Amino acid sequence: MTPEPALSVRELLAFYLEAGVDCALANEPINRLAEPDIAPKRADVVPVQPARPAPVPLILPPGETPAAPDAAIASAREAARTAPTLTDLRQLMERFDGCSLKATATRLVFSDGNPEARIMFVGEAPGRDEDIEGLPFVGRSGKLLDRMIGAIGLDRTKAYIANVIPWRPPGNRTPTPQETQICLPFIQRQIELVDPDVLVTLGNPSTQTLLGTREGIMRTRGRWFDYHTGTRVIRALPTFHPAYLLRSPAYKRLAWQDLLAIAKVLRQSS
Ligand code: URA
Repeated sequence: MTPEPALSVRELLAFYLEAGVDCALANEPINRLAEPDIAPKRADVVPVQPARPAPVPLILPPGETPAAPDAAIASAREAARTAPTLTDLRQLMERFDGCSLKATATRLVFSDGNPEARIMFVGEAPGRDEDIEGLPFVGRSGKLLDRMIGAIGLDRTKAYIANVIPWRPPGNRTPTPQETQICLPFIQRQIELVDPDVLVTLGNPSTQTLLGTREGIMRTRGRWFDYHTGTRVIRALPTFHPAYLLRSPAYKRLAWQDLLAIAKVLRQSS
């Protein structure tokens, strides 16, 4: 049998790009899928790590052995429910090991902005720039989101921004329904703790996940929904995701109408 010819560097890079490896984060490759205790360690380059708190356990009902995703969802729900503050929630998510996206992401992307804000924006999931910086909406679509927020006289000191999924899916692929269900209790708790007057869901995935609708964004945008936190009802408005507006600028006109409706409700409820 003739052996396969070795890949050229160019072909290898093209393969990586197609597989979603679109940026170099460090000089040395890191196998994030390796078992931590069998991963090779180089004593000369590995800095001394501070003691890490124990990972959040997956909590199973006594005597039951549910499938792993169910256990992860139950564990996320229980962990999120007991987080008394945003700081606690963030720490708990840093330790949560129930979502496989954490293994391939560089870091948790928790939130940006003001936790006291009256308006909260929720997107789908971090992309490459967010994964590098650890903040939501800092790439191209983030710049447009800043302009949208600016158009109603606000900025990140007066708004709170987060995502349904707090870890970047590899290669920016669409999160699976399972990953979304595992992460959902965390964003729900975040909304409950921020307790804004207006919740803006950006794009279809965020709208359908948080507002429990199966309708598409063309039908839901600009329509007010009730978001129930369990203790309060928050007014929620879906609008287009800024990444979509970058691809389809003609819809900016409708997004502008949504922003005016948001500004009006904020004025009325102040
Ligand atoms: N798209 C999102 O949905 N969220 C981000 O943080 C960045 C891009």
